[in-house]
Amino acid sequence: MGVSIRAATVADREATVALWEAAGLTRPWNDPRGDFDLALATPTSTILLAEIAAALEGSVMVGFDGHRGWVYYLATAPGCRGQGIGHALMTAAENWLKALGSPKIQLMVRGDNASARGFYNSLGYELQDVVTMGKRF
Ligand SMILES: CC(C)(COP(=O)(O)OP(=O)(O)OC[C@H]1O[C@@H](n2cnc3c(N)ncnc32)[C@H](O)[C@@H]1OP(=O)(O)O)[C@@H](O)C(=O)NCCC(=O)NCCS
Repeated sequence: MGVSIRAATVADREATVALWEAAGLTRPWNDPRGDFDLALATPTSTILLAEIAAALEGSVMVGFDGHRGWVYYLATAPGCRGQGIGHALMTAAENWLKALGSPKIQLMVRGDNASARGFYNSLGYELQDVVTMGKRF
């Protein structure tokens, strides 16, 4: 059965958050429902969903900041890994960004997430010699 990709709507919030939780992407200091709503309410960001036979099996959040494209919350349902869903989602995220004129896509991955690093590597993503710094508002 093929994978189809579509943009999320507010009606997809609970199923998507459940997927993020199952994939181990939520953290106590982030409100995933708030993250979901904010991404959908922002004109230059979206959440793309991967479905097989109408069942939600993957997601990626993607946004363009006017200079670079950024990716968050990439997840494939634990029972559906290794079938090309993550690859299909990243291709869709790249195409979404290209359509907005973004010249580059990048992402943050926890240093100890060897599996995700292997995945991104296989898609041509390279390690960048930078540190990320942040500040909460
Ligand atoms: C990372 C993740 C999204 C990959 O999803 P997936 O649907 O299993 O990936 P795919 O099946 O599309 O794999 C695509 C390619 O990556 C390769 N790959 C996947 N995992 C890999 C790994 N651990 N090491 C090396 N290559 C890997 C696959 O072999 C495949 O290559 P191919 O097309 O040449 O066969 C999934 O493992 C996941 O949800 N992890 C938990 C959440 C997470 O860590 N997200 C990233 C946060 S930054």
